[in-house]
Amino acid sequence: MNARTLGQSENHDTLAARNARLAPGDVVSVRIRRSEEQDGAHRFETYEVPYEKSMRVLDALNWISENRAPDLAYRWLCGSKMCGTCGVRMNGREVLACWEAVEPSMMIEPLRNLPVVRDLVVDRAPFEAKVAAFEPWLERKEPYPGFPEPLKHGQMNNASKALDCIGCMCCYSACPVIGLGDATDFAGPAPLVQLAQTALDTRNGEDKVRRSLSATGIFNCVSCYKCEEVCPARIPIVTRIIEPLKARTAQLCPGGAPHASAFRAIVARRGRIDPSALVLSVQGLRALGNLPRVLRLLLRGKINPIKTFFGAKGAAADAAHRILGMKGGGR
Ligand code: SF4
Ligand code: SF4
Ligand code: FES
Repeated sequence: MNARTLGQSENHDTLAARNARLAPGDVVSVRIRRSEEQDGAHRFETYEVPYEKSMRVLDALNWISENRAPDLAYRWLCGSKMCGTCGVRMNGREVLACWEAVEPSMMIEPLRNLPVVRDLVVDRAPFEAKVAAFEPWLERKEPYPGFPEPLKHGQMNNASKALDCIGCMCCYSACPVIGLGDATDFAGPAPLVQLAQTALDTRNGEDKVRRSLSATGIFNCVSCYKCEEVCPARIPIVTRIIEPLKARTAQLCPGGAPHASAFRAIVARRGRIDPSALVLSVQGLRALGNLPRVLRLLLRGKINPIKTFFGAKGAAADAAHRILGMKGGGR
């Protein structure tokens, strides 16, 4: 059972279970967020839709558009999980309207973290601008050897996962860090998946990859897996895209990853994480500037200056040192 289906299976919320909850003749209640004429204002409208066998969210939207609300704005093209244009939020979860089975009672909203054009249609321009800024193409380190190009599976292992992306923006909507808006310079999961198609391609030159990665703010990702949970293409976004990109960033732009580099160095030296050593490594003596906070952390046992300044090692220090491959002994 993968992360994406874990919650659904626990709730017996599988496609078969959902289809079994409804029968032809039933009515599906669909509450849709509609835009008002004035900027940014919205209202909710509820429509009663007659259920048909194996009905998808898109079928319900089409019925509403044809029978009740001809001015309803929503987007779709392929109807078969290929084009990525029909992403919406259904009952608080990002889904593809053309793929998701209806539920007896549904609230349908536009994706988050993108400007709403009208009703369920969002503006993809911010995402496209981010992807374009990454210059997502190859600048080869070796001359093109001609077709067919000899490539091993291992060389394209992670990049090929990224090529499954249909650009639906579900992950971008689900990402809590992107939800912080201007407070973060994190590019977000969907642009990173697009970037990974070339940045994790071993044929790409290091200068090119360094240039692109340095603008991603990738270390702001908190590895919460929300993006992976909602991805309809089932791309392992964190494990096969973001983590390899973080590793590549740490290697090519070490100055851009002070927190990750310090974390790794401390674990390699001491076999454990030491929160105060981590803060001191990243912020230096500035970290001592807020004395009330330092005292609070001391009183709660969150920091231990004796362990930090006298460098006590954990039992796993030797193993950590071996695995992480740090030079020199532990402090
Ligand atoms: S794992 Fe990272 S990219 Fe994915 S939703 Fe969480 S913060 Fe966003
Ligand atoms: S990674 Fe998945 S969720 Fe994100 S845009 Fe691509 S297909 Fe959609
Ligand atoms: S309409 Fe193309 S993916 Fe849904």
